[in-house]
Formats: sequence, C-alpha cells, structure tokens
Amino acid sequence: MPKDFTNLLLEWNKTGNDRQMPWKGEKDPYKIWLSEIILQQTRVEHGLAYYHRFIERFPTMTDLAMATDETVFKLWEGLGYYSRCRNLLITARIVAFERGGVFPSTYEEIIQLKGIGAYTAAAIASFAFGQPFAVLDGNVFRVLSRYFGINTPIDTTEGKKLYVLLANSLLDFSAPGTYNQAIMDFGAVVCKPRLPLCKTCILQPDCQAFKVGCVDQLPVKSKQLLRKTRFFYYFILSFKDQYYIRQRQSSDIWKDLHEWVLVEKEEELPLSTDFNKVLNQVYKGFKGTITQISSPEVQQLTHQTIRGRFIHVQLQKPLASETDLKLVSQTDLKNFAFPKFINAYFQAFTRRVPPGG
Ligand code: ADE
Repeated sequence: MPKDFTNLLLEWNKTGNDRQMPWKGEKDPYKIWLSEIILQQTRVEHGLAYYHRFIERFPTMTDLAMATDETVFKLWEGLGYYSRCRNLLITARIVAFERGGVFPSTYEEIIQLKGIGAYTAAAIASFAFGQPFAVLDGNVFRVLSRYFGINTPIDTTEGKKLYVLLANSLLDFSAPGTYNQAIMDFGAVVCKPRLPLCKTCILQPDCQAFKVGCVDQLPVKSKQLLRKTRFFYYFILSFKDQYYIRQRQSSDIWKDLHEWVLVEKEEELPLSTDFNKVLNQVYKGFKGTITQISSPEVQQLTHQTIRGRFIHVQLQKPLASETDLKLVSQTDLKNFAFPKFINAYFQAFTRRVPPGG
C-alpha cells in the first residue's frame, strides 16, 4: 500500500528536517504568538533578532502589556505593518489585565483576539495546546497545491474552503503541532517557491504537479497585485541641532510612527522643482535655506510603492505657527520609531555627515 501524504511528511520530519528555530517545541502561547506575528512580517533569518529582542525585553505577556506604546513601536521598527504591532499590544493588555494573564486555550477563543486570524489561531492552538487545527500559510498552500495538483486559485472563497477542508483532513490528530510544524518546514526547505528540491523529495513519486511538469505554476492566484505609487517629499527641517518631527495620525500607512514634514504629491516632482515654494505652501513665510536634496528613494510595500526625496532645510528661526510638530535633538531622535523609508535614508546620511558636519 502506498504510504500516504501525512505519513511521508512525518517521516521526512523525523529523518530529514534539520531546520532550527528557537521557538520550535515552544509551549508558551505568548512566545508562539510573537514568533508567528514576526514571521508574518519577515523571513526567519531577519525575524530572529526581533524575536530575541522582544523576549529579552518583555519575557512575559504582562511585561509587554505594561510597556509604553512608543517602546514597543521602537522595538518593532523595521518590521513594517504597524497595525500588527498595535494589535499585539491591544491583545497583550486584554489578556494581562482582563483575563488575569491567562492566554485562552481553545481555537474558538484564541481567534476572537484582536490581530489573530485563522492561521495564527491554528498555530497557537496546535503548538501550545495540542488542538487539532491545521495551519494554512503560503508554505502549506504551495505544498498541497503541488502534491494534489490543485489549480483552484488560493485567493478565492472556493479555493480557501477547499484548502481548509483538505488541510484538516490530512492533519495528524495525535500530534497536530508536530504535523503543522513539519508541513511549514517542508514548504520552506524542500517544496520552495523557486528551485524546489524535487529530485530528492520524499513526496515526489505521488506529486501530481511533478508528474505533469507544472510545479513552478502552482499555487494559482486569481489576482495580480496592483500597486499604486505615491510620491513623498520629506523636508528635514533643522534648527541648530534640533529637528522637527510629527507623529502620523491617520489610518494611512505608518500610523503612529514619526516622520519629517511631509508633502505628498500625485506625481513625481523633477529635481528642478522650487522646493522652497513647495514648503511655503505648508509653512508660510518660513525662514531657512535648502542645503541638500537627496537622490530619488524608493520603498516597495505590499500594496503601494513609495517614491520620494529628502530635502534638508536649515531654519534661521523656529517655525512661527502653532503646529503638530515637535522639536527634538538629534540624539533624542533614536527614541522615536520612524518608517524604514525614513530610517534607511537618514542613517546612511548621518554616517556620511556626522552631527555638526
Ligand atoms: N513560518 C511561520 N511560522 C512557522 C513555523 N512555526 N514553522 C515553520 N515555518 C514557519
């Protein structure tokens, strides 16, 4: 009798899986939750440092719940998608202050928590509490679509239903956590998006996509991601050794993070633009000199592309009008969380031009 998918996967996990991750085998739901949220933002190699920093600073969920928003945002800086970080804090505070620090132990309760969707709930429920819920992440979609030769798009209602049923039917009910970990590791190490290791793959003899030669076309998505481009012109206003910053408020990207004075445009402004005039439209009658204009900078976000420049302005006197801006010394800037778009440029700039230079 041919061995089935689950048995072969578990065999690979026992004999061929040497993927190391510090949260493997972890039973503390807080640590599992944190690692999964970080891994939704970035690759394992990059996420490790964040995980260690968080756990060192906030060993328990109550420690995290008691931290100030700004401290946590600062630690999250560079991971992006700050709504995840905000939800992390909201949920930590609810669990710490309204549930006596006890994390819920069933899938149904876990998925009620803010910021925890079906994937994270299944991961926490199975890893921490041994509950039989199959995880469905990018790795799992890829492995299942290839092995079973499924070409229903994964981003449709029909596709999602089909995959949830299939994933749960394959789960090893005696060890759901081990099975979930195994299938994700398998997707990350063997059944990779590019250059999968089909030649040596234990599942290859019954892999439908391998048989038909369409491994690199699965899984199927119905929509191509359409990204819009936005043009951000950041005015780095300095007065002596202090800088003007503001906290972003709206429900737009980077909510709660800090930034320089921003002028957003619908279209790209050429370098020959009179940036004095652009700034004057926001801060009428400011007195200052433009000392430098950066090359165009770009950052790719999931749903949008940010393009723009940084314009350095030395003010001769502080801004006159009442504004939502704060004046902060260069050394204090490090206490505020900024988007990566700003940090990447400014850190490179201050390395080239040290303070006072
Ligand atoms: N990707 C996200 N979470 C993971 C986990 N727990 N194991 C393997 N890959 C993952």
